[in-house]
Amino acid sequence: MSPAFKMNARVFVLLLFSSLTFAINFNKITKVFSWKQISYDIKGVLYLNDTQYERSESSIYFDQELDDSEKFFIQYNNVPIGFEVYGDRVFVTVPRRRHGIPSTLNYVQLGGPSSPTLKPYPNPRWSKLLVSTYRPRVDSCDRLWVVNTGLLEVPDARKQLKPPAIIVFDLKTNKQIFRYNLKDTDLVNERTAGGLTSITVDVDPKSCADAYAYINDLATNSLIVFSMRERDSWRINHSSFNHDAKALNFSVAGNVINWKDGIFSIALSDLNSNGTRTAFYHPLVSTQEFSVDTAFLKDKSKSIEGNVKILGNRGPLTQSGSHVYHNGTRTLLYANVAQDAILCWNVDKELKPENVGIAAQDHKQLVYISDLKVSGDDVWVLVNQIPRFVYSSLNPGENNYFIHRAKIEDLIKGTVCEKK
Ligand SMILES: *[C@@H]1O[C@H](CO)[C@@H](O)[C@H](O)[C@H]1NC(C)=O
Ligand SMILES: *[C@@H]1O[C@H](CO)[C@@H](O)[C@H](O)[C@H]1NC(C)=O
Ligand SMILES: *[C@@H]1O[C@H](CO)[C@@H](O)[C@H](O)[C@H]1NC(C)=O
Ligand SMILES: *[C@@H]1O[C@H](CO)[C@@H](O)[C@H](O)[C@H]1NC(C)=O
Ligand SMILES: *[C@@H]1O[C@H](CO)[C@@H](O)[C@H](O)[C@H]1NC(C)=O
Repeated sequence: MSPAFKMNARVFVLLLFSSLTFAINFNKITKVFSWKQISYDIKGVLYLNDTQYERSESSIYFDQELDDSEKFFIQYNNVPIGFEVYGDRVFVTVPRRRHGIPSTLNYVQLGGPSSPTLKPYPNPRWSKLLVSTYRPRVDSCDRLWVVNTGLLEVPDARKQLKPPAIIVFDLKTNKQIFRYNLKDTDLVNERTAGGLTSITVDVDPKSCADAYAYINDLATNSLIVFSMRERDSWRINHSSFNHDAKALNFSVAGNVINWKDGIFSIALSDLNSNGTRTAFYHPLVSTQEFSVDTAFLKDKSKSIEGNVKILGNRGPLTQSGSHVYHNGTRTLLYANVAQDAILCWNVDKELKPENVGIAAQDHKQLVYISDLKVSGDDVWVLVNQIPRFVYSSLNPGENNYFIHRAKIEDLIKGTVCEKK
């Protein structure tokens, strides 16, 4: 031990102690699910541990060692990344970023076990047609929207297996109601598909056929707009979609993150008096927030150039992934990955560091909020510690993945986001 280290050891221990124990509002959060590792229930067969072949009554198994790419289920590789809530069902996605993922779009039931097995959605046969899905969304017309990136993202074995597509399911019947393949002009190069990690649906429940979807492309920095009525899509570029080099190198669980992720999340306000919405957005690697009126997204003859607003800066270590607007409190809620926190900002206030509140923080169970959503007056988060998976390793004996829920009013009470 060097003398310098000895001298600082007490300070270091104090810092470590406070960073491990310091939590804000975590007692106001309900733990919905937690998993040490992900397991599946496929056609009634439980896959609770690594399994070479999919089991079926008619197959014959050989006792040979398979290559990882041929294995049906490699449990450790299954990291949940996105989710959505609808009634008593919670959808959970597992993108194919490694080998051995049996199903990318799945669901579990609320009110059952706290570490439920995942079931393929809508059923095992349909789910097989999807390669990788990230952050699905339910719209106000009871439909589930997902982007199938079509990309097998295994390092050194990347392969575009299907064209990137928007797929919509009717949640009442659990039937696919349509699929739309993105156009070649929506995609810049072979990296684009891997960047299509979320979808935001813009629809008035009074006219469900006239829906728009906004897909972020964090890899090649664009926003892809889809019009359901026109059955058409187009790509929008803007400098605000790029990552901010000054916001690189924040750390999560002790790992320095140097991902250059651009536009990551698009959150919509309620309808304005003129029938459009404000679309709030930010790159992952940025501490700024931007907005544009959806009128400029929905009309492909219009340009957003000159119509983007820089709303302000949230402050140091506010790099965030998913964010959602809650109309009741007029706040945006952010999955703040750089501080293991949920941040809030009341959109009626100027965006500056003093007006951004920490609604919740926990250095164990909010380490990398991979997805965040608002359902009614509740905020839900999916936590997956993905930097640990990427840069070191997860301990399969501990709880690694969580879904939590909290009342928004409870979290923002006493913060700068509370309505006065
Ligand atoms: C799962 O498989 C691994 C490796 O084959 C083994 O070490 C472990 O004990 C198994 N766990 C369970 C719960 O069966
Ligand atoms: C957007 O930028 C990409 C390069 O990043 C370029 O290939 C593409 O043509 C641009 N598209 C539009 C609509 O400006
Ligand atoms: C981030 O790290 C890289 C590599 O160490 C360095 O070149 C760059 O200046 C750093 N940027 C910031 C904003 O810290
Ligand atoms: C729509 O209304 C909002 C405020 O209600 C305003 O900020 C926005 O500029 C309007 N958009 C257009 C295209 O007029
Ligand atoms: C949003 O909130 C306002 C009051 O702040 C209310 O008038 C409006 O009906 C709300 N919109 C929805 C869709 O709930």
